[in-house]
Amino acid sequence: MCGIVGYLGTKDAFPILIKGLHRLEYRGYDSAGVALVDNNGNLNVYKTKGKVANLENYCKDKDISGCVGIAHTRWATHGEPSDVNAHPHFSQSKNIALIHNGIIENYLTLKKFLISKGYEFRSETDTEVLVQLIEFMMKEHKLSLYDAVYQALTQVVGAYAIGVIEKGNPDLLITARTSSPLIVGLGEGEYFLGSDASPIVEYTKNVIYPEDRQVIKIERGKEIEIRSLDNEDLIKPEVKEIELSLDDIEKGGFPHFMLKEIFEQPKSLALCMNGRVQKEQKEIILSGVRDHIEKFAKARRILITACGTSWHAGLIGKYLFETLCRIPVEVEVASEFRYRNPVIFSDDILIAISQSGETADTLAAMELAKAQGAFIYGVCNVVGSSVARLTDSGTYTHAGPEIGVASTKAFTTQVCVLTMTALAVAKELKTISEEEYKRIVTELCHIEEKIGKILEKTSEIESMSKIFTYARNFLYLGRGFNYPVAMEGALKLKEISYIHAEGYPAAEMKHGPIALIDEEMPIIVVAPRYALYNKILSNVQEVKARKGRIIAIVTEGDTEIKKQADCVIEIPETEECLSPLLTVIPLQLLSYYIAIAKGKDVDQPRNLAKSVTVE
Ligand code: G6P
Repeated sequence: MCGIVGYLGTKDAFPILIKGLHRLEYRGYDSAGVALVDNNGNLNVYKTKGKVANLENYCKDKDISGCVGIAHTRWATHGEPSDVNAHPHFSQSKNIALIHNGIIENYLTLKKFLISKGYEFRSETDTEVLVQLIEFMMKEHKLSLYDAVYQALTQVVGAYAIGVIEKGNPDLLITARTSSPLIVGLGEGEYFLGSDASPIVEYTKNVIYPEDRQVIKIERGKEIEIRSLDNEDLIKPEVKEIELSLDDIEKGGFPHFMLKEIFEQPKSLALCMNGRVQKEQKEIILSGVRDHIEKFAKARRILITACGTSWHAGLIGKYLFETLCRIPVEVEVASEFRYRNPVIFSDDILIAISQSGETADTLAAMELAKAQGAFIYGVCNVVGSSVARLTDSGTYTHAGPEIGVASTKAFTTQVCVLTMTALAVAKELKTISEEEYKRIVTELCHIEEKIGKILEKTSEIESMSKIFTYARNFLYLGRGFNYPVAMEGALKLKEISYIHAEGYPAAEMKHGPIALIDEEMPIIVVAPRYALYNKILSNVQEVKARKGRIIAIVTEGDTEIKKQADCVIEIPETEECLSPLLTVIPLQLLSYYIAIAKGKDVDQPRNLAKSVTVE
């Protein structure tokens, strides 16, 4: 939700800010804007509705000089996408400019107060309240910009990562965060701000990850100054090194990040399993489980919570933990879980799954469960993210940065982590035999190469996709471990092609969706050959009897479903509990190519954002 970038140094800020915005555009692209203080102290703000490219065009004939600046790409919450609601926002006198990612929850109260003091508002945003409040603090209490930001933030309830600059001061950049991501990069005589490391990595690897409620003063030629809103003592910055490389965040010859990320899955799964799955010994070592095995042994229940694609991974987690560990599991979307006063026991384990580690509802669900004494286990991609910080234990997915808004490699690595976790727990609890354990671990070691084989069918899937671009509705059916895969396939299609799609348990189709089936309707059936194969074959026949067009995902060598289906994509044989790692791949490719054939922007689909930091 919104990306922020900042720069203070000796170079021209504008190109650095624009490049940074492009890299953060996955976070939102309703509008973009930039503010610069030039060497004469003039504060220039340029902002436009639409994508960063629009802003670049808009700025072609503008004065874009200045070695300090802030920039923003927006995902609208308060106020529609428009020029006036775009960030940066000016204060009343136009002496201060501010960018913000997050939500100021008490903005209406603050706005009323500021209006009573004669402040006028130009936009409908919550953010404008903050910049006005900073100016009020400066004027009313004769404070410096830094002190005014500090004092204003003591009045704010909500989430924010901000950047602030002021007219007449080309040597100052203020930033702060609470509950929204922020990284500060430290170069040679230059500083960078980013919502993640992608705008920074090209220039420096040394960064600070500010904690919640910290306010930071970056002043040319001086040491960086950090204070907490809870106590005015100076805080010594802890400098860390970012692991990200430039290659990780570029397209590497692929036309879109989504396709690159689909193709990266063998590699990201290998990284995910690296040091954890021991091929020779056929063992899984997960320190997050090993160090807390007594929690799993005594667990009354596992609760899994997440949003979007991560929730689908969680649904597969239910099948994994119940089948392999015999621990009862409940899975719930975080936005429901957090508000329904759920019954949580202190011997429950809550598994929170999140690619970004910043999803507001998931964080709130974790806090709720933590307050009630549950043990919190995180499955997360972004190292050092808020989810990672809130957990008692957990396992990173190590998928590498995922930039395409539609999640692909994050999903398969989440499923992989859940599989490894369930296997490690099952072994300790002896809920599966040693033989079964070794068989599944051995098979897990072959997953990358099997995904590779499916990726070789890309052109076949691309041709198939062209047949179905006419469709306005799709139905995705699956059973058992592959029912959540059907839901994930439907979500992928909806997200990027804007075709309506529903994922359904195949047998449940008879209780409703069957009414939709006619000769127009494509039905994707995820039907690898396992115990319920004959049942799903009957479901296929029910669809055929109503003239539905079937695209089936089947195990290599399948003969029965092939006879019924209009199109078939074969996947290699594997253990049933590992099959989602394979069956989802053709569904990702199919969605991608259908969206491409329809001319859609797959990396930045309308209205969506990669990381949803608002509830
Ligand atoms: C957004 C993204 C999805 C993602 C979901 C949860 O909706 O567009 O791709 O699955 O948020 O995000 P998280 O970072 O918590 O996995």
